[in-house]
Amino acid sequence: METAKQEIERLREELNAHNHRYYVLNEPSISDYDFDQMLKRLEQLEKEHPEYDDPYSPTHRVGSDLTKGFEQVPHVYPMLSLSNTYSIEEVDQWVERTERALAGQESEFVGEMKFDGTSISLIYEHGRLVRAVTRGDGEKGDVVTENIKTIKSIPLVLKPGNWPEMFELRGEVLLPWKEFDRLNAERAFNEEPLFANPRNAASGTLKMQDPREVARRGLDAYFYYLLGENLPCDTHYGNMMEVKKWGFKVPPQMTILHDLKEVDQYINYWDTARKELPVATDGLVFKVNSLRQQLNLGYTAKSPRWAIAYKFQAEQACTELRFVSFDVGRMGIITPVANLEPVLLSGTIVKRASMHNEDIMNELDIHEHDMLYVEKGGEIIPKIVGVDKSARKPGAQKVHFVTHCPACGTPLVRQEGEAAWMCPNKYGCPPQITGRVEHFVGRRMMNIDGIGEEMSEVLFEQGLVKNIADIYDLKREDLLRLERFGDKSADRIMAGIEASRSVPFERVLYALSIPLVGETTSKKIAKSAKSLDRLMAMSEEELCAIEDVGAIMARGIIEYFASPVNREIIERLRKAGLQFQIDEPDEGEMSDKLAGKTIVISGVFSKHSRDEYKKIIELNGGKNAGSISKKTSFVLAGENMGPAKYEKCQALGIPIINEDQFLEMLQ
Ligand code: IVH
Repeated sequence: METAKQEIERLREELNAHNHRYYVLNEPSISDYDFDQMLKRLEQLEKEHPEYDDPYSPTHRVGSDLTKGFEQVPHVYPMLSLSNTYSIEEVDQWVERTERALAGQESEFVGEMKFDGTSISLIYEHGRLVRAVTRGDGEKGDVVTENIKTIKSIPLVLKPGNWPEMFELRGEVLLPWKEFDRLNAERAFNEEPLFANPRNAASGTLKMQDPREVARRGLDAYFYYLLGENLPCDTHYGNMMEVKKWGFKVPPQMTILHDLKEVDQYINYWDTARKELPVATDGLVFKVNSLRQQLNLGYTAKSPRWAIAYKFQAEQACTELRFVSFDVGRMGIITPVANLEPVLLSGTIVKRASMHNEDIMNELDIHEHDMLYVEKGGEIIPKIVGVDKSARKPGAQKVHFVTHCPACGTPLVRQEGEAAWMCPNKYGCPPQITGRVEHFVGRRMMNIDGIGEEMSEVLFEQGLVKNIADIYDLKREDLLRLERFGDKSADRIMAGIEASRSVPFERVLYALSIPLVGETTSKKIAKSAKSLDRLMAMSEEELCAIEDVGAIMARGIIEYFASPVNREIIERLRKAGLQFQIDEPDEGEMSDKLAGKTIVISGVFSKHSRDEYKKIIELNGGKNAGSISKKTSFVLAGENMGPAKYEKCQALGIPIINEDQFLEMLQ
């Protein structure tokens, strides 16, 4: 029989191996489900045996609750930058200069990608990650170890190998295009400011205070520089191949180049091929391969002489402005958008580019039918970077920001200190209303399947849904009367509405579209206020005491609940049976009714979640266990308890009780 300690060690080892196969090699050998089950089992065992806790366990990759400012430490070796150029000629000159300086010695170069993320320095001691530090000012940086631990392709414990006892590894933390697009789509939907490019997103994410949020963002990392004493190899390339064996991702495009011709070929090839890569790159880096030669070449004040960066030109196009339109968001914010003659840019056709706000639009000094420069450097969202004034049509008029809402005609307002113009007609402006309905029913909010952007508009136009509370008055017959609407679609929506009544309070709060209150903040507010009634009664001071809530947000919350329209909507939602308080036992419900009892939870529950039941058991003095044994006092069973568990209970004579009986027991 395997002891708990042995099982913990085995699971850690297996999970580390699967993480490496999945995140580094891209060759998973088990299903995500099986992986999750193993991870859950390990979590459970570690919880039952805190004596075997290990900060390097794969379970720690999901991030701890730790929130504190970042500590700063000096770098062991300063983090220098690279000298860079946009011209192939200058790269050629560097190659020739370097070869001359090496006075006829055989020399090799290594070509690799210049990743467009944020640099990181990792310190490993005895094969374990001890510290991760940002570049900072090059001399000292921020310690971001907890956040780095959430990046699954970074080994916390190295695979066996010839790694030095102590070394530093530098590389780039990146947000792959796919994750970047997902994050920005989510932010656009929540009307949060978008990240201009994956680099900003990666560096912003690395400096977040909540490692759980970092874990959610899907960062990745590539490594390109090994430092320390007793390195395994005397070449850069050789060392990187070792680093790869220890479990890290190294740039797969890394190639040994023998002469100028091969360097030029490498540039010509990657100038276009890099567009197919899953991560953002802004150039190439060439390095002298031999470490001895690197040492001979040495450094200037700012950068090594043994390396040079070749930067790609940002991609630009010039096209004619057709007209400027003004988008109205769910919070009433007006965004100026340049509608363009379609133009091909980095492989996609661009027809629209945001100009963000009035100030930016004025700075560009846009006139009718101007020829505009559109750029898509590291960015996915094209932006207007300038105007070809020499091509301006005679007599063309300057384009002004609108003074009235393009959707409802209401005069716009702009608060002092704010960049955005807003339409104040919150309850009468159609795109704001349908935008709020669309947000309300979204997957991460009330999750009402079947009502999306188009359906929100149809329901509004038909006079069926003029605010979020109207959703709960919808009848199946109303839906069936709509064009091209069948039984199935109607049933789906009705079922979604019904299920939304049990969506937890924190998501209801997020669904309400309270200004500036996003998903993470909603959770914090829900946890602190505990109920909507309590939240509605809170003063600005009390609100500001909640983590992440500042004075502007606090005022927004107070104003939101002060509005009679919102109050009426809230009362109707209350009557509809939405969750207006957190479903969590509070300290007052503690007892010792379960003292000495070891309880196993199995199946799916309807009154509380599994985690809540676990908490209830602990608060009442009981112990949670993962598997049924002779020591089990009883099994708390929900629906779908597994047949194997059922049989085991029968065999050992262990009582099975359902959730009603259990809750009664605690009354
Ligand atoms: S080598 C002594 N290799 O570019 C210089 N840097 O301007 C060691 N970067 O801060 C850096 N890809 O963040 C190196 N393949 C690569 C790189 C790379 C991106 C970044 C790095 C550094 C900056 C230098």
